[in-house]
Amino acid sequence: MKGLILSGGKGTRLRPLTFTSAKQLIPLANKPVLFRVIETIRDAGVTDIGVVVGPPTDEEVRAQVGDGSRWGVKITFITQDRPAGLAHAVRISRDFIGDDRFVMFLGDNCIQGGIHKLIRQYADSDYNSQIVLKQVPDPRSYGVAVLNATGGIERLIEKPKDPPSNLALVGVYMFDKHVFEAVDAIKPSWRGELEITDAIQWLVSNGRKVFPYIHTGWWVDTGKREDMLEANSLVLEELVPTVDGVIENSEVDQRVTVEKGAVIRNSIVRGPAIIGENTRIENSYIGPFTSIHNDCVIENAEIDRSIVLENCEIRDIPARIHDSLIGRRSVVNRAAQKPTGYRLMLGDYSQVGLA
Ligand code: G1P
Repeated sequence: MKGLILSGGKGTRLRPLTFTSAKQLIPLANKPVLFRVIETIRDAGVTDIGVVVGPPTDEEVRAQVGDGSRWGVKITFITQDRPAGLAHAVRISRDFIGDDRFVMFLGDNCIQGGIHKLIRQYADSDYNSQIVLKQVPDPRSYGVAVLNATGGIERLIEKPKDPPSNLALVGVYMFDKHVFEAVDAIKPSWRGELEITDAIQWLVSNGRKVFPYIHTGWWVDTGKREDMLEANSLVLEELVPTVDGVIENSEVDQRVTVEKGAVIRNSIVRGPAIIGENTRIENSYIGPFTSIHNDCVIENAEIDRSIVLENCEIRDIPARIHDSLIGRRSVVNRAAQKPTGYRLMLGDYSQVGLA
């Protein structure tokens, strides 16, 4: 069994962060989503893993992931020169996969409880493909599946306006070599991409055995800010807290991880939360579901349910910052100069919600 992680795409819904970084490298509880995917696959016993990367983020992903030895896995990078779809990514991975069965995992998906049961079930079956489904209240932004009377897949539709069921396709799929016939046979969709849902539909229509695996834990596709914040909350809730930093004259909940070199002084931190390495929190309130990354300074400020990336400075803020995603090296402070007013320097596609 091999693993295939798709880590290309432009991440347009997470701009401006994705102008400078891959969406798969945005951290949840201070660890990139992509690293969590690698660990999930490794924990299910699969150690030969291909990672599909594409411009403009391919260099960054290669540099951050490396050869995989730090996770005890072997990583092979496969370059997709243009965003031509998930099924196209499968097509170009044929040499790497060979005749093996494989698990394909979208590098921006995060699921609860791992995938070892799924891997076991597929390995013990004669299915050609097994796809992970989850009941969701509104499946319109996902692939949607309809099951037949025997519990197999009857049909699949990508992002339907009027969903025929509430079963969304989670970004985790099991395939055998027959998927390569499918990805060669299908045509690009209206958005010009080779869709993985069309490839799976082709397998169904051509008599291959395609069965569902219903996932009951939480699942988040981290493509948008709200999804990122929700995934961050869910991951923080499961984090086993450790304290390696210094806490002085502060009230810090048990569900708070304080990484090494971090200092929390004259502050209140409510968990679940994580304070990254060498970050300083002073005279501040950090509320639940907040991840502050490494080398930040938070002074005289209040912040909750947010993700703050490396090297940020947040100082002297009169209102609480919440539901926010703040990119690396951002500075948020209170200017003393007159005239009073908001002084902003925002990247393209930034969003500011003033109270
Ligand atoms: C892709 C798939 C979709 C699936 C989703 C899961 O959509 O095309 O079928 O439900 O991933 O994350 P995308 O997020 O690329 O729009």
